[in-house]
Amino acid sequence: MKILVTGGLGYIGSHTCVELLQEGHDVVVLDNLSNSKEEVKDKIKKITGKEVKLYLGDMINEILLDEIFTKEKIDAVIDFAAYKAVGESVKKPVEYYTNNISTVLVLLKVMKKHNVKKLVFSSSATVYGNPEHVPIKETDKTGGTTNPYGTSKLFVEQILKDLYASDNTWDIAILRYFNPIGAHKSGLIGEEPNGIPANLMPYITKVANKELECLSVFGNDYKTKDGTGVRDYIHVVDLAKGHIKALEKLEKEKQGLYIYNLGTGIGYSVLDIINAFEKVNKVKVNYKIVDRRPGDIAECYSDPSKAKEELGWEATLTIEDMCRDAYNFVKNKMIS
Ligand code: WQD
Repeated sequence: MKILVTGGLGYIGSHTCVELLQEGHDVVVLDNLSNSKEEVKDKIKKITGKEVKLYLGDMINEILLDEIFTKEKIDAVIDFAAYKAVGESVKKPVEYYTNNISTVLVLLKVMKKHNVKKLVFSSSATVYGNPEHVPIKETDKTGGTTNPYGTSKLFVEQILKDLYASDNTWDIAILRYFNPIGAHKSGLIGEEPNGIPANLMPYITKVANKELECLSVFGNDYKTKDGTGVRDYIHVVDLAKGHIKALEKLEKEKQGLYIYNLGTGIGYSVLDIINAFEKVNKVKVNYKIVDRRPGDIAECYSDPSKAKEELGWEATLTIEDMCRDAYNFVKNKMIS
């Protein structure tokens, strides 16, 4: 199939492009480089030996989107294009709602015009808010989101549900990611957020690589096994493979709306991650315990059994793989 990947040069998008190309799909990428680098296109080619067709621009640009659908015979869309920094979203709610919601409305309008109705949407575990219990199932309550980023994802999920209710010829997979970390084993692509990292793993890799001095651990007084926050970390390559399986599901079913948690089902604390990272990479990670980060929750990890049953997908890479590959990417960046 020919797949349009919006945000395809980004962290999860680029890893998904690699898997798509290796599965024999043709890939068209639309990216505005707001949180990615154009050179990632060449890295994807280095890994796969194949090119993506790149369009530089913004999904809000209906004319550009229309041009892409007219020029390229798109069979399905994977939509990654969104801002995703929780803390930043609290400070810039209007930018987050505009970018994360309005762009999807433009995309859906153009897809309908060109009768392209297969969509894989990048959602997030944040739609569960502060979960009533863990592990979290897809049927658990959503809402009570604690930041505009999570709320924007919740709104788009509702838009997609309403769209499907109005026209059941759409074929939609909503994928709720837990905590993606790690990098492709080649070390050529990985997570490189602009500025000081907001997320745990990119911060740890910079401390280990002596680019930052000390990791602040946001609180050790949560009701968890060691008091620090527990999350469901999933290797970004496992996550990318989940998109391939979701596409196969859409191809098989022809229509429907499907929701899946993409996680490992295992919760690791911040201290677990630090210990695993130090052991695998034989490095020291300086850290100090500080106050909790506003908006953080104690525990969040998935029950991924539905994806296993319906997609035949499950995460296979371990926390050691994630820690090793994340650091390998950062070290490789220094020498390349
Ligand atoms: C993980 C744990 C922190 C940084 C968010 C989004 C989620 C996804 C991933 C987009 C928590 C602790 C972190 C630090 C720390 N993004 N931490 N010191 O908040 O679980 O999830 O990012 O898809 O949708 O909600 O991820 O990596 O920021 O935090 O102690 O410098 O690490 O308190 O317990 P989070 P995170």
